[in-house]
Amino acid sequence: MRFQLTTILAIASATVAVASPTWAAFEQWAKGAGGKSAPEHTSSRPSISCHPLHPSKPPPSPPPRNRVCYVKSHNDGVTDDSKYILDALHNCNNGGHVVFAEGLKYTIGTALDLTFLNHIDIDIQSYIQFTNDTVYWQANSFRFGFQNVTTFFKLGGNDVNIYGGGTIDGNGQIWYDLYAANVYTLRPVLIGIDGLHNSILSNLVLRYSPQYYHFVANSSNVIFDNINIAGRSISANVAKNTDGWDTYRSSDIVIQNSVVNNGDDCVSFKPNSTDMLVQNMWCNGSHGISVGSLGQYKGEFDIVENIYVFNTSLHNATDGARIKVWPNTPSALSGDLQGGGGSGMVKNITYDTMIIDNVDYAIEVDQCYGQSNLTLCLQFPSPLTITDILFKNFNGKTSKKYQPEIGTFACSSSTVCNNIVASAINVVSPNGTDEAYCLNVPQANLDVTCNTKYLGFN
Ligand SMILES: *[C@@H]1O[C@H](CO)[C@@H](O)[C@H](O)[C@H]1NC(C)=O
Ligand SMILES: *[C@@H]1O[C@H](CO)[C@@H](O)[C@H](O)[C@H]1NC(C)=O
Ligand SMILES: *[C@@H]1O[C@H](CO)[C@@H](O)[C@H](O)[C@H]1NC(C)=O
Ligand SMILES: *[C@@H]1O[C@H](CO)[C@@H](O)[C@H](O)[C@H]1NC(C)=O
Ligand SMILES: *[C@@H]1O[C@H](CO)[C@@H](O)[C@H](O)[C@H]1NC(C)=O
Ligand SMILES: *[C@@H]1O[C@H](CO)[C@@H](O)[C@H](O)[C@H]1NC(C)=O
Ligand SMILES: *[C@@H]1O[C@H](CO)[C@@H](O)[C@H](O)[C@H]1NC(C)=O
Ligand SMILES: *[C@@H]1O[C@H](CO)[C@@H](O)[C@H](O)[C@H]1NC(C)=O
Ligand SMILES: *[C@@H]1O[C@H](CO)[C@@H](O)[C@H](O)[C@H]1NC(C)=O
Ligand SMILES: *[C@@H]1O[C@H](CO)[C@@H](O)[C@H](O)[C@H]1NC(C)=O
Repeated sequence: MRFQLTTILAIASATVAVASPTWAAFEQWAKGAGGKSAPEHTSSRPSISCHPLHPSKPPPSPPPRNRVCYVKSHNDGVTDDSKYILDALHNCNNGGHVVFAEGLKYTIGTALDLTFLNHIDIDIQSYIQFTNDTVYWQANSFRFGFQNVTTFFKLGGNDVNIYGGGTIDGNGQIWYDLYAANVYTLRPVLIGIDGLHNSILSNLVLRYSPQYYHFVANSSNVIFDNINIAGRSISANVAKNTDGWDTYRSSDIVIQNSVVNNGDDCVSFKPNSTDMLVQNMWCNGSHGISVGSLGQYKGEFDIVENIYVFNTSLHNATDGARIKVWPNTPSALSGDLQGGGGSGMVKNITYDTMIIDNVDYAIEVDQCYGQSNLTLCLQFPSPLTITDILFKNFNGKTSKKYQPEIGTFACSSSTVCNNIVASAINVVSPNGTDEAYCLNVPQANLDVTCNTKYLGFN
């Protein structure tokens, strides 16, 4: 007999000191099938470093963990495993290692507040899926305030390490279809983070988020490494607003070595994002790597400062590098996305080394976000300043969309933009031109051929 009684008891209690076989293997054994199966095991924690660029804060160096909790599963793809998940996270919090075991499928049908995590490794080897109960989720998901963001669960705490190579699936299709029918549908974000510090998320596969893949709020010193993002709609309703990462009220975040196939910003720095490093990213189908949108809410002061974006490649995108700011007049992109009138500052942002491949605008600085009437935008210039911005070492070719232009540098007045520099911009449109629309910016600092032909904003 392959299983000892002690092992069976260990599975039943789900908290064990040593590795033991999987639930599926146990079921197989119980049925007498006797097939081959992976025994329960812990993944070794990946050693993550930040290179070639280093963030200003040293990366977290988590201490070893002292016990293991295997998460049980109903393993039927339907029944909610949330209780098992909470049990394991509580039992192994403060020093343990939680395993979503290889071969099992986990289903989450309850909004989980996971902001209590502390000194814990979460080893996702298998497959976790959120249920498709859109009525439940809209009533119970966590509300994050900014842009009506809601999340399936809320991750927070200190010294949290998540890895393991497994998949987290947001069951997005039903949401893409629902949103197409009603833009006020509250689609949950896949990974909702509120107050996470000194933590690392790495080696994860994220699929079919209903909305953004990550929303990182109130957090500091968090590294995301080797995250693989994708999820396309199979119906005529496209998967909208599927940003890879949005950061908000956060500092010292690193996002690196990741692959993103999505339909909105690859990475986006929302209000109060400071000291961020993004490097070695491959983004396909996105809206670029964006600062903003900012200035959306009247009476608020938004800060995005000290951002370095290095070695990224943007394919099939609307934008490469983008700064988007709402004007000082009420504007609307859609029924569920409107704003304007906020103030603040964007300062010390560098986009260094970007490959442009079939991108509409390689660079887009737009202080008229959400306002298609340029006259109106210029009548009410944004009070949100854009200062010390450097775009350098861009290579590649844009799409035909704005040909002959490859970019746009549009400030709503000359007093709000200062020291915007574009150097070594070796990007051309398909017919070989490198023109850009330049408005209220000193042209001498821009390594493009400035013109005054407004062709539109994304
Ligand atoms: C929702 O998921 C359940 C369980 O997997 C499935 O039976 C049902 O068909 C799904 N409903 C929709 C509308 O996709
Ligand atoms: C972040 O922290 C602020 C201040 O404590 C709080 O009001 C807010 O709810 C938190 N979460 C988000 C998503 O902003
Ligand atoms: C939030 O949703 C409400 C309706 O539910 C809508 O009126 C409002 O414009 C939305 N706000 C934002 C910022 O999306
Ligand atoms: C951003 O930070 C500034 C300065 O601390 C503060 O006034 C503002 O309220 C913050 N905005 C948000 C959205 O948290
Ligand atoms: C740039 O990023 C790519 C992945 O997109 C990686 O293969 C390459 O090694 C990186 N270059 C440097 C200098 O790190
Ligand atoms: C990139 O996205 C396009 C759609 O925009 C898709 O057809 C293509 O397969 C994607 N490329 C890869 C390598 O996934
Ligand atoms: C600008 O931001 C970078 C990080 O991207 C930082 O290293 C540098 O010190 C900042 N410069 C100033 C003047 O704050
Ligand atoms: C860009 O999209 C086209 C199809 O729309 C696809 O053939 C191509 O592979 C994509 N580029 C990359 C780098 O995936
Ligand atoms: C744009 O705004 C200006 C100024 O308010 C107004 O005169 C003009 O009619 C608007 N144009 C359109 C197309 O709405
Ligand atoms: C490039 O294409 C645009 C329109 O797509 C055209 O206006 C322009 O004259 C072309 N330039 C060259 C050099 O062919």
